[in-house]
Amino acid sequence: MDKLRYGIVGVGKQGSKYSLILTTGLVKNGVLTAVCDIEEDRIKWAKEKLEPKGVKVFEDYKEMIDSGLIDAVLVETPHYDHPVIATYALSKGIHTLIDKPAGVYTKAIRELNEYAAEKAKDGVKFGIMYNQRTNPLYKFAKELVEAGRIGELKRINWIITDWYRPQAYYNQGGWRGTWEGEGGGVLINQCPHQLDLFQWLGGMPVSIRGYAQYGKNRDIAVENDVTAYMEYANGATGLFVTSTHDFPGTNRLEIDGEKGKLVIEKNRLEFTELEVSESEFNATNKKFMPSIPSKKIVKKMSKLREGFMYVHEQHCGIIKNFTNHVLNGEKLIAPGEEGINGLTISNAIHLSSWLGKEVQLPIDEELYIAELNKRIEEEKQK
Ligand SMILES: NC(=O)c1ccc[n+]([C@@H]2O[C@H](COP(=O)([O-])OP(=O)(O)OC[C@H]3O[C@@H](n4cnc5c(N)ncnc54)[C@H](O)[C@@H]3O)[C@@H](O)[C@H]2O)c1
Repeated sequence: MDKLRYGIVGVGKQGSKYSLILTTGLVKNGVLTAVCDIEEDRIKWAKEKLEPKGVKVFEDYKEMIDSGLIDAVLVETPHYDHPVIATYALSKGIHTLIDKPAGVYTKAIRELNEYAAEKAKDGVKFGIMYNQRTNPLYKFAKELVEAGRIGELKRINWIITDWYRPQAYYNQGGWRGTWEGEGGGVLINQCPHQLDLFQWLGGMPVSIRGYAQYGKNRDIAVENDVTAYMEYANGATGLFVTSTHDFPGTNRLEIDGEKGKLVIEKNRLEFTELEVSESEFNATNKKFMPSIPSKKIVKKMSKLREGFMYVHEQHCGIIKNFTNHVLNGEKLIAPGEEGINGLTISNAIHLSSWLGKEVQLPIDEELYIAELNKRIEEEKQK
């Protein structure tokens, strides 16, 4: 195979962007041959815009997957359907790239991962659209972590409150901002990238105490204000704070390790690298309030670079990487099975909040589904 033929399930806001990426030749050796949607206006749009470019339009994803027209699929529907459609595609030997979040609850994703691992033995590939992993600042942070330059984790804090969404956003209707339609609010819709990066850079916590506020200053049933405290196996701690009603918001990631401290905020990364680790310094230091000798590395990203990034990297970068992974075995930036990690943190924050106590990871999957279903029922009663 020298070209990977893609189909897209769901050509709403996101799927239509990917259709543009694939039909404008941005992905070498990746072509769009089919799309599918179930909404009349999206089908009409696809017939007008994509059919003239040789893209066949389907109204049933199974028919598209079975058509023989595609080798790979991008799953761009609301989240509950991601694992369902992915499982079907994998069962037909179709390489599958799902969008974030992997799904709504971990049980479905654990089962999807188990299935994908079976299909991987036959060479069927599975990826997830964690496009923020291509952001140069987070990439550099990952390199520092992997090279051991931050040292053993002591603390990881992310305040990500710049997702301002007014009531008008929630009033637009559809699946967004509801338990039934998307399985939550800010954690499942806006934060999956940050929750992924949180674990990509800091590893997985072992326990979480989450405090979620539901419908804070907004007429919605789902969470839009969250503070979560986490503990790690080595005694490190984590804090994740997010909301959609603060203005102006903050987006600041801090990672403190034995050997240095990393801060990313406002498109700027600052790494303070200690000349000796804090524990070594502490073992011999005699002063009362010293500073540890260190050097700083700063990386900034210009608006121009950011614009460039959104055309060539980010989503486009993930599709390029997935294409090269299938065609030439290039290492995946975001393997599909890693989608469960951020979702586990998200589910654990909710479960802890609902139960009013700390939860251990992995969470009780059945209990999570039972509690989620209660919220869906309550929402329907309103
Ligand atoms: N990676 C990112 O940065 C990013 C950004 C935005 C959205 N997303 C994700 O993309 C997904 C879609 O979001 P969106 O904003 O495009 O939503 P959307 O509502 O605009 O589009 C979803 C489309 O899927 C279609 N659809 C639903 N069920 C279908 C089915 N069974 N078969 C075929 N089509 C079906 C709908 O008709 C709709 O056109 C979500 O999971 C969202 O989280 C990812």
